[in-house]
Amino acid sequence: MRYHGSQHDISYTATLEFFEARGAAARPDSPQTSTMYQDQALASRRDACERTTVLPLLAVRQEDRVLDIGCGYGRWAEALSGKISSYLGVDFSAALLKLAEIKAGPTVRFQRLAAQDISPCTLIVPPPFDLFICAGILIYLNDDDVVRLARALGAMAAPGARVYLREPMALQERLTLDRFPSAELKTDYSAVYRTVLQCLELFGAPLEKAGFTRVVERPLYPPELCNRKETEQRILFWTK
Ligand SMILES: C[S@@+](CC[C@H](N)C(=O)[O-])C[C@H]1O[C@@H](n2cnc3c(N)ncnc32)[C@H](O)[C@@H]1O
Repeated sequence: MRYHGSQHDISYTATLEFFEARGAAARPDSPQTSTMYQDQALASRRDACERTTVLPLLAVRQEDRVLDIGCGYGRWAEALSGKISSYLGVDFSAALLKLAEIKAGPTVRFQRLAAQDISPCTLIVPPPFDLFICAGILIYLNDDDVVRLARALGAMAAPGARVYLREPMALQERLTLDRFPSAELKTDYSAVYRTVLQCLELFGAPLEKAGFTRVVERPLYPPELCNRKETEQRILFWTK
């Protein structure tokens, strides 16, 4: 079903099944298409564009402790490798974490944990963290869990911490797909596309209450890398 405008909760079980299947079918040498639902050429161009645009924004320092929520196959672990002090990638998909594990090492770790269960006492690397990465995760969380996650990040933030958010957002009105038969993905798909304003209310407000200030809010890709009518990928960045 498609729900326009109204708030409708999605099932996390269906989302987990979706990602387990994507991870199991992924090619270890080119895993981008497992979490970026485009053909390999566009997925690679988007991946390169995000890194080029966002790495300067993240301004990582050697002493940074990073928490990546919904880390998938470890795309950001690879991009930050050698540049930071520690990295913890958290995801609920065992199949995607299996792909990520090849990037693990003494300072790069992965943990199977649902985003809605993240708290200072459930993580294998204890807080505080200097940088939080939330790339393409909020669309899979219901509103209550988006708020809960933002509060958890606020509680685990070191002085001077930063939060990077990249999300596909609704251009006009909130859109929820609940086990919607996607011709493109060839399976049922569930996700919540919120407007920028809704993301700011649910995720931004708790962060700002915890002392963060929003410093960036804009589209990520140039027009030639965009191919959706109802949504676009946007980036937001907060510093404390
Ligand atoms: C679109 S992918 C993005 C992956 C990665 N952040 C990146 O930018 O390449 C979304 C990821 O979120 C994970 N995910 C979805 N819902 C989750 C949840 N409730 N808890 C933890 N991980 C979740 C999926 O398994 C998947 O790896």
